[in-house]
Amino acid sequence: MKHMTAFAALSAAALTAGAAWAEPQAEVLHWWTSGGEAKAVAVLQKQFSDRGGVWTDMPVAGGGGDAAMSALRARVLSGNAPTAVQLKGPAIQEWYDEGVLADISDVADAQGWADVLPAQIAEHMKCDGHWCAAPVNVHRVNWVWANKSILEANGIEMPTTWDEFNAAADKLKAAGITPLAHGGQAWQDATIFETVVLGIGGADFYQKALVDLDPDALSSDTMKSVFDEMRTLRGYVDDNFSGRDWNLATAMVMNGEAAFQIMGDWAKGEFLAAGKEPGVDFVCAPTPGDAGFLYNVDSFAMFKVDGEDKQDGQKLLAELIVGPSFQETFNLNKGSIPVRTDVSLDKFDDCAKKSAADMKADGEAGSLLPSMAHGMALHGAQSGAILDVVTAHFNSDMSSDDAVKMLADAVANSM
Ligand code: BGC
Repeated sequence: MKHMTAFAALSAAALTAGAAWAEPQAEVLHWWTSGGEAKAVAVLQKQFSDRGGVWTDMPVAGGGGDAAMSALRARVLSGNAPTAVQLKGPAIQEWYDEGVLADISDVADAQGWADVLPAQIAEHMKCDGHWCAAPVNVHRVNWVWANKSILEANGIEMPTTWDEFNAAADKLKAAGITPLAHGGQAWQDATIFETVVLGIGGADFYQKALVDLDPDALSSDTMKSVFDEMRTLRGYVDDNFSGRDWNLATAMVMNGEAAFQIMGDWAKGEFLAAGKEPGVDFVCAPTPGDAGFLYNVDSFAMFKVDGEDKQDGQKLLAELIVGPSFQETFNLNKGSIPVRTDVSLDKFDDCAKKSAADMKADGEAGSLLPSMAHGMALHGAQSGAILDVVTAHFNSDMSSDDAVKMLADAVANSM
């Protein structure tokens, strides 16, 4: 075996030295509470218990993780950080800068993470050159999900441009079918928004506007067209969309109450958990424009905690998370693809295979881009400023001209 597992090495050392054995402990804060998410996190829980670990679950419901992040802040401020926390994007480095994250480089080096993780993704897991988070998966955000029989009954093909999407939606609306299942929560509005930015503006525009925060891009005519499309999409949601959880919107597509949902592939986890089959009951396609791959990588950071049992728990968790067996089983349930490049996709469905192929192609083409809506691209204050404007526009009759001005101002004030 090329790399002896870090935890096995430590356990062996402890036994040789005759040290007392305490079970590895982990209190794990996460926001995986929907049907598909719960099935996926149960995989980690089981693998941890099978290796003698004692898992204390701390689920904080709320898609996108806003509530979980508030709970985390409260725990850290009270000096009682959880052992392991679902954390991602620049928030990892923000917490590291506060001096509260543990260095997990011993596990990462022992397991050779650098050899099996894509370089762009590995960078998100590093703080000052040390490994400070363990990546779980790669979710693609820019997907459209559709109810197959609704499309067939109405003679509709999966749309490849926003004009085609609008034409399909108009046809469905005229037939009395809700075209777009949506939950009116800021992060869900932003999830749609970023796919429209990518589809209408292209990969370079997405990078300039939502990653580099270039003022010209933010106030451009292209951004006005994006808000025009958001206004059109607002006309395709049902009257009860406000505040609806994302998984209930997925259920609308599953149950034939709506035709499409624009959502990351955690939605596929819901379809699968409900026994639905891709290509049979539902269809997946990149969002209109197909101009790139918006990635959202779930990861766990370990907080500095006292006690050898907890520190052992952190090492064991980190080892399991990046291990090939967890990567396969977890991602089959979660809807995402393994982050390791050496895990076979034989057991995965065609949506996952497409995700992996597109990720590779977009990586080569320079259009593999971090999701703004899912905290992969910006610091919280900056993405928060964008989300506020997107939601204010979606929930009012604000003009695209005003939205663009508001967007550029809000971003400038957040820096
Ligand atoms: C997370 C996913 C999660 C989704 C809905 C995303 O931000 O990355 O793991 O399933 O939110 O809660």
